[in-house]
Amino acid sequence: MKYDYTNKIVLVTGGTGALGRAITAAFIASDAKVVSSYVIDREIEQLKKESKAVVELIKTDVTKEEEVEKLVLSVISKYGRIDVLVNVVGGYLGGKSVSELDEKEWNLMMTMNLKSAFLISKHVIPQMVSSKYGKIMHVSSRTGLKSSGYDSAYAASKSGLIRLVESLSEEVKDSNINVNCIMPSTIDTEANRRAMPTADHSKWVKPQDLANVVLFLCSDEANVITGAAIPTYGVA
Ligand SMILES: NC(=O)c1ccc[n+]([C@@H]2O[C@H](COP(=O)([O-])OP(=O)(O)OC[C@H]3O[C@@H](n4cnc5c(N)ncnc54)[C@H](OP(=O)(O)O)[C@@H]3O)[C@@H](O)[C@H]2O)c1
Repeated sequence: MKYDYTNKIVLVTGGTGALGRAITAAFIASDAKVVSSYVIDREIEQLKKESKAVVELIKTDVTKEEEVEKLVLSVISKYGRIDVLVNVVGGYLGGKSVSELDEKEWNLMMTMNLKSAFLISKHVIPQMVSSKYGKIMHVSSRTGLKSSGYDSAYAASKSGLIRLVESLSEEVKDSNINVNCIMPSTIDTEANRRAMPTADHSKWVKPQDLANVVLFLCSDEANVITGAAIPTYGVA
């Protein structure tokens, strides 16, 4: 399905990553104005030429409040508002039991996966409330619902993100703002293929399929969905 995001201002954080690039490309193909921190690659360049999209890159560490504040202010001062926020920032740390995990590793997961989501939501929400319009998507994980062990910090951070989404969605539902997250299982990325060369890659969920779900959830067709954590597991 082709979505029309013409005149929509979309902020994608973590747009340099495997999933972030697919989401950014999907919004560009739907003619949105996209602000992202991704690195331009050839595929994105081609998409830009083929669409009416406006694409801008801003380097931001979304775990630092002053940088997040600056990012949001600069998008609003240039484009007037943010209609859609897709926060893709995140990372994985596993393979260690709770006893083996050190404090720095625990803090890294909480900061990268949970604090980042809090900070970017905190600074985007006030303008969405005054516009009485907004779509916010975060990226949790299947592990946020059920851990298989040896991933406590990651699992706890992604689980916390689901509760953050729930709480925030209740706080802003009267302002016509939808807040949801997806919970992917293993995504078919180059990094995962390198890390798990013998796994059955055909069972992994494709970035493009997740991008399609995100575009739907950020569209007005999905107005009745808020506070949801959507399972996006493919056939895994
Ligand atoms: N891959 C999977 O199998 C899987 C499964 C379930 C959920 N997820 C979640 O899906 C999301 C995307 O995963 P992915 O595989 O696409 O990961 P990825 O390729 O590693 O991309 C992660 C993105 O987050 C950005 N990032 C990390 N720390 C940041 C910070 N402090 N400030 C700003 N940006 C920061 C990275 O930017 P740089 O490139 O500049 O570092 C990159 O753009 C993550 O939230 C991940 O937890 C992934």
